[in-house]
Amino acid sequence: MKKLLLTLFVGLCFLGRSDEGMYMPFMLKQNYKDMKAAGLELSYKKIYNEKKPSVKDAIVSLGGFCTAEIISPKGLMLTNHHCGYDAIRANSTPENDYLTDGFWAMNNGEELPIEGLTASIVVRIEDVTEEVLAVVDEHLVGMERYQRIQQVAGEIEKAAVQGTHYEAKVKPFFGGSEFYLFITEVFTDVRLVGAPPSSIGKYGGDTDNWMWTRHTGDFSMFRIYANAENKPAPFSMENRPYVPKHHLPVSTKGVEKGDFSMVMGYPGSTDRYLTSEGVNLAIQKDQPTRVEIRGKKLHIMKEEMDKSDAVRIQYASTYAQVSNYWKYFIGQSEQLKNNKVYDKKVTIEKGFESWVAEDDSRKERYGTVIQDLKDAYKVIDEVTYTRVCFYEAYYSIALNRFIIAHAKLKKLLEEEAPQEEINAEAEGLKAKYQDFFEGFNYAIEEKTMAEMFKVMAHYIPEDQRSEKLNKIASDSKFDFEAYVTKNLKNSVFSSKERYDEFISNPTKAQIENEELLSFGIELLAKYREVNSSAEVAQANAKKTKANRLFIEALRKMNPKKKYYPNANSTLRLSYGNVMDYTNNEGKAYKYYTTIDGLMAKEDPNNPEFIVPARLKELYEKKDYGQYAAQDGNLWVNFISNNDITGGNSGSPVMNANGELIGCAFDGNWEAMSGDIAFEDNLQRTISVDIRYILFVIDKYAGASHLIDEMTLVE
Ligand code: ARG
Repeated sequence: MKKLLLTLFVGLCFLGRSDEGMYMPFMLKQNYKDMKAAGLELSYKKIYNEKKPSVKDAIVSLGGFCTAEIISPKGLMLTNHHCGYDAIRANSTPENDYLTDGFWAMNNGEELPIEGLTASIVVRIEDVTEEVLAVVDEHLVGMERYQRIQQVAGEIEKAAVQGTHYEAKVKPFFGGSEFYLFITEVFTDVRLVGAPPSSIGKYGGDTDNWMWTRHTGDFSMFRIYANAENKPAPFSMENRPYVPKHHLPVSTKGVEKGDFSMVMGYPGSTDRYLTSEGVNLAIQKDQPTRVEIRGKKLHIMKEEMDKSDAVRIQYASTYAQVSNYWKYFIGQSEQLKNNKVYDKKVTIEKGFESWVAEDDSRKERYGTVIQDLKDAYKVIDEVTYTRVCFYEAYYSIALNRFIIAHAKLKKLLEEEAPQEEINAEAEGLKAKYQDFFEGFNYAIEEKTMAEMFKVMAHYIPEDQRSEKLNKIASDSKFDFEAYVTKNLKNSVFSSKERYDEFISNPTKAQIENEELLSFGIELLAKYREVNSSAEVAQANAKKTKANRLFIEALRKMNPKKKYYPNANSTLRLSYGNVMDYTNNEGKAYKYYTTIDGLMAKEDPNNPEFIVPARLKELYEKKDYGQYAAQDGNLWVNFISNNDITGGNSGSPVMNANGELIGCAFDGNWEAMSGDIAFEDNLQRTISVDIRYILFVIDKYAGASHLIDEMTLVE
């Protein structure tokens, strides 16, 4: 009965609470009461503390694109399978296919060094707003404002880490009205420890991606290594496992509806203060174009990947990345409409306008904000196809970036620069691109390039197209295949042998022959001309300023509301509760899934839904050991109303005591508009239940030595 009353009470509290918010963890004082009300037991100082070990010391920015958490005193880290995906792929071959079969190091010696992967931990954070804003006055906008801020930020960064091994970065918040300095310790010897097979780590594949219900064991494990002083050092056999200031205890107690849940991590980017015009632009032009371009890329890759295991492994991460945001943009467009985000934004803007109208000083400061945004978007709208095409169809493709990287070399050769200068440039390129061809498949690249030029010629307005693009388009009647084949076939940029020979001794005659380089240079120049024209630059400056003032005004309008800045890949905390939801059509979803649901989805004919034999065996024997849930079953995933986004992938979900209960990996379809407007009643974070992770490590993979390292709380 007591429990029932408590549940009722907690239930009532939820009605009034929204769990929107990616808060800066060093400013949690404002949230602390609310967090206690949600169930938090831990003191504020145990979560974020610059003087004593705290939870923050276990939260890692993995490579700058994902989050990981330290879960043992020996630097063992947990993150998502999709975060470790490229590291797993890079170590896979058709004979030793860790993507398909999984990988488990049975001792430290077997852990695989991952070149280029970093693990960064926050040491301290400082408010440097005053120092930064001192160098700009209110009237300064656009590039000039940006550059002055960059300069002073650079000085602050340099001074902050002088004489230390730390790194420093100043970042803007709230549209550029506040600035914070982040001091971090960046480890560069990071090794792969374990990963389940994709049939567990990516179970449900692209079909289930961005959706609840889910049955995915989306986790992998890495370890940080440090030198004898426990400091960051490049990979070396002498390095030893890093001893962290804090590691998260792991709870095997499980989750229940209403439980407090807290996520700390590095969300990449949100646009929560986007105005109605911006929503319109996203739905009308920006996102459909991205979806179309990505769809074409996926189709081309898939065709070749299906033909060969080597190509499948080669392109696995590129494919996954393109596909992840292909589906993201489909979902975002759809849900911006379903959740009536445009109307919601208009309501906010109307409220803002009435607030401004109440007072002369407000009129003076904010009076033109809405009109400025309208004017700015009108201009930006006209170059949207050009911008989206340039990035999605040209610059995001590795081959294009590789080609265009040779623009400077071409210039040096043409200007007959001193030979040392030419050699230095060529050596730099050679070193940078020594592994380029490992990720290169001729058929995929050729088809993609032709298709992408076609898209560009189709979408970019004629007067914004490069001359060459126009000419090839009209000569070939929009059929770029012949053009690409002719110019890629014997290019030095399409075979390792030709490239190595060329770059060892580059000549003017050779580089002038590279049509795709000349074309790329011209495309880029035209793009810059269009996108950085005085008119567009002015519109962007106007928009940036109006947006900053709009955010400032909202915060003044609602002084009690806990505003939080847009995500920007800095450390954030979100708190809420384990919770189910009912979608707009009235369909109710439970807050957890089990291995029964996983088995029910099994489809031996669909590569996305194959259940590995060993997992089936354990399921049939109901051999879940200490990892079984309160009902005796094996729980797989659960949801909570935490506020996360891309970059949070791999983040720890912690209970009221700061113990690990899950690893966050996705969001649900109904709230795909969430990066632009948080949906209180719909938006959920999807996490792997930590008990399923432990079960896979221990029972499935037999890597119990990893469990022994952890601090389990029962
Ligand atoms: N949507 C998830 C995210 O962006 C990634 C999930 C990966 N799984 C997949 N099937 N692609 O964080």
